Amino acid sequence: MIAAFGTTQVASMSTLSASPVSARLPTSPYFVFPMGSSRFASMSPYTCEASATSLFHCPSCQRTEDIWIARCMKRRKGRYPPGQSVDVVGAFKHRWKLDDETVRRLRELNHRDLRHVMTEYDGERSIEDVLGEVSIEMPDEDDMKTVDGAPQQPGVLTMGRLNRLELIDPTADAFIAGDANLTFAELLAKHREGLGHVGRVVATTFESIEICRERYKEIDTTIKTIEDLNGEVLHDVDCTRLAVDPRFKGMTGKFGAVYYNFPHAGVVGGFFDGHPFVRWRHENLMHLFFSALRVFVKPGGVVKVASNANATGVRFSDIMMAAEMNEFTHVETVPFLEWQLRGYLRSYGDRRDANRRPGDGENYRSQRAHSDMVSRLPALGTG
Ligand SMILES: C[S@@+](CC[C@H](N)C(=O)[O-])C[C@H]1O[C@@H](n2cnc3c(N)ncnc32)[C@H](O)[C@@H]1O
Repeated sequence: MIAAFGTTQVASMSTLSASPVSARLPTSPYFVFPMGSSRFASMSPYTCEASATSLFHCPSCQRTEDIWIARCMKRRKGRYPPGQSVDVVGAFKHRWKLDDETVRRLRELNHRDLRHVMTEYDGERSIEDVLGEVSIEMPDEDDMKTVDGAPQQPGVLTMGRLNRLELIDPTADAFIAGDANLTFAELLAKHREGLGHVGRVVATTFESIEICRERYKEIDTTIKTIEDLNGEVLHDVDCTRLAVDPRFKGMTGKFGAVYYNFPHAGVVGGFFDGHPFVRWRHENLMHLFFSALRVFVKPGGVVKVASNANATGVRFSDIMMAAEMNEFTHVETVPFLEWQLRGYLRSYGDRRDANRRPGDGENYRSQRAHSDMVSRLPALGTG
C-alpha cells in the first residue's frame, strides 16, 4: 500500500532495482496506472507519514499527489540544511542548533582550533571549554596528517579548501557506485596516481558490461586506463546489496572514500520523478545505499554524494535523511563546479546516453549546473 512510504517497502527495493523496469513495479493495482489514466481516479485514500494526514486523490483535477508530495517534502526539508552550498560552520550550526553568537565566534577561528571544536564538541560543554583544550604544541612531523596542515590559516576557508581538493586517505581504497560510463573512476584514479596514493579505486556500474558497451563506445579504453592505474572495475553492482555480493567479501572496513554522483533509481515510464508511486524508489535507494556502506567504510572514511539542489528524483533531503539514519554526519556541501573531480563526462545512466549526455545543452551549463552540489558525509561523526 502506498502509505508504507519508506519503511515496509525498504525490504523490496533491492529486488525492484535489480530487475528490468517492466518487472520492477509491484503488482498492486495502485501502481499500474500512470498519471492521466482514467482508471487512476479509482485510487484509495492514503496517509502521509510526515503530516499524518489522510489524503484523497481528486478524480477531476488529478493533482492531489502534487500537493501531497510538496507538503511532505516541505516538512522534511526544514529538518536539514538547504540543498545549496553549506560551509562547515553552516552544517555544524544546523547539527547542534547553535546560536548566532557562537557561530560568529566559530567563523573567526583558525583551522586548528575550528577542527578541534568540530571533532570534540558534543553539545554538552560550552565551546569555550572545548577551545581551552586545544594544545599549543604542534603534532610530531611523523604523525602529521593532511588535516593538520595550515593550522593558523582561517578555519572555514581551509577546511572548505581541503574538501574541494579531494585530499582523501592515501592508503585506503575508494569505492564508486553507479558510475555508468566510468569516466569519474578514471578521473579519480588519475587524481590518486598524481597524489601518490597507494589505495585502489573500486569502480562499479549498475549496468552489465554489454549494456555499457552499447551506450558508451569508449568504455573498454576507459576500463583499461583504470586497471592500468591499479583500479578494479565491476559491473552489475547494486550498491544497495554490497553485503550480499560475493565480490565484496573481504572489503569490510576498507573504503576510505565512497562516491555516488547524481544517484537516481531509474525512470519508470509514464511517471514523473516526483510522483509518489515511484518516488519511494529514490528515497529507498539512498537508505539502502548508506545502510549497505556502514560496514565497508573505514572509521574516518567519508561518503560524497553529488546531487542537484532542485532534483525531484533523489532529493537533497533524501540523501541527508538516509545519511543521518545510518550515522553519517553532514559536514559540508560545496558547489559541484568548485570540486576538483568535476571534470568527468556526466551520464543519464540510461539508454539516452547512446546519443547525448547531461550538460550538452547551453541551458544546462548556464542554469542547472550552478545548483549541482557535492555533500561530504563522514562516517560516525568523523572526518
Ligand atoms: C543519473 S545516473 C548518474 C551516473 C553517473 N554517476 C554520473 O554522475 O554521470 C544514475 C546512475 O545510478 C545507477 N543506479 C540506479 N540504481 C542503482 C543501484 N541500486 N545501485 C547502483 N547504481 C544504481 C544507474 O544505473 C545510473 O547509472
